[in-house]
Amino acid sequence: MKLLVIAGARPNFMKVAPLMEAFAQRRAAGAALEVRLVHTGQHYDERMSEEFFRDLRLPRPDINLNVGSGSHAEQTARVMIAFEGVCVRERPDWVVVVGDVNSTIACALTACKLGIRVAHVEAGLRSHDRGMPEEINRLCTDAISDLLFTTEPAAGENLRGEGVPAEKIHFVGNTMIDTLLRFLDAAKAIPLPAGLGEGAFGVVTLHRPANVDDRETLAPLADTMAEIAGGIPLVFPMHPRTRARLAEFGLLAKLEAHPGLRLLPPLGYLAFVGLVARARLVLTDSGGIQEETTFLGVPCITLRSNTERPITCTAGTNLLVGTAPEAIRRAAQAVLASRANGHAIPPMWDGQAGRRIVDILLEQETCSYAGR
Ligand code: UD1
Repeated sequence: MKLLVIAGARPNFMKVAPLMEAFAQRRAAGAALEVRLVHTGQHYDERMSEEFFRDLRLPRPDINLNVGSGSHAEQTARVMIAFEGVCVRERPDWVVVVGDVNSTIACALTACKLGIRVAHVEAGLRSHDRGMPEEINRLCTDAISDLLFTTEPAAGENLRGEGVPAEKIHFVGNTMIDTLLRFLDAAKAIPLPAGLGEGAFGVVTLHRPANVDDRETLAPLADTMAEIAGGIPLVFPMHPRTRARLAEFGLLAKLEAHPGLRLLPPLGYLAFVGLVARARLVLTDSGGIQEETTFLGVPCITLRSNTERPITCTAGTNLLVGTAPEAIRRAAQAVLASRANGHAIPPMWDGQAGRRIVDILLEQETCSYAGR
């Protein structure tokens, strides 16, 4: 069996690492298996990509499409054009995509139209907000995938509600949590930035276009972070998009000067997880961090009005508060005032998702390439 595994953007790397590891183990045990790691180049900076490969001990990509940044259509189209050539040349039996970024839908669509079967890892998540580019990527990828691997029960319900046959859906757990479990000790061994004590600081991440692209939304969010940083130090590793917008809107200097705020460049995987695991709270608009904080039992205040990962709210530590300053402030105060932190780890988030996925893939038939 020949498979192409796709990674494109930062949140993909920790999801493919356990798959590559499980494939390598099966190959070492004698499985007739050829796996190529394809990096689309959607993220390309040292800090958004290279460092993750080192931290996660990922093999070098076999193929790099080097597509870079652009509008949604440009980026998606560039991946499709470049990936079509790869598929025609490599003739894989399966293309494995993860998550919900532009590279995910671009490679899924390209493969599907060539008659190559597609497996989607982290299928079925729905925010029910079609204003999110990722929601469109999720809906379209799932609609054309042949195997759909889910991380939580609600995802399977969503897929069945959309008419996906039950036999295509496999509830396997969460490969991002496989990676977290594998690297947690190494992450916590990294010293905290000078002056920060364990459990005595917060972590902020913010990068969603809906939150950072307009001054009217970003300015009050920045003010609210500054206010919370008056009560507890906040570390803010900053996505390039966010830094650019803060600078453009004249908001960056004020944040940089704030004594309670530490603005950092984007961090590698180990440094970031090491921070989150020892934080008192996290304020974020990320999807994946909602899951990591749930697993770690760290309170997470999510600066969005919806989530595609409902189990992080029902079982985990996630509080969906939206972007109104008063709601964020109140949530932060409540978290800081409370020591109780009841949470449960969702079912199957046990470090074995990658192995389960690879076992199911290797039971499938080979040779679907139709060369259309
Ligand atoms: C993408 C994903 C988003 C994910 C996020 C994590 C889509 C639609 N969105 O958003 O789901 O949460 O990644 O980071 O796929 N840039 C750099 N260096 C890089 C990459 C990007 O400086 O290595 C800058 C560029 O100016 C670029 C901007 O960041 O225009 C945005 O990058 P892009 O890949 O378009 O989307 P993200 O916001 O990162």
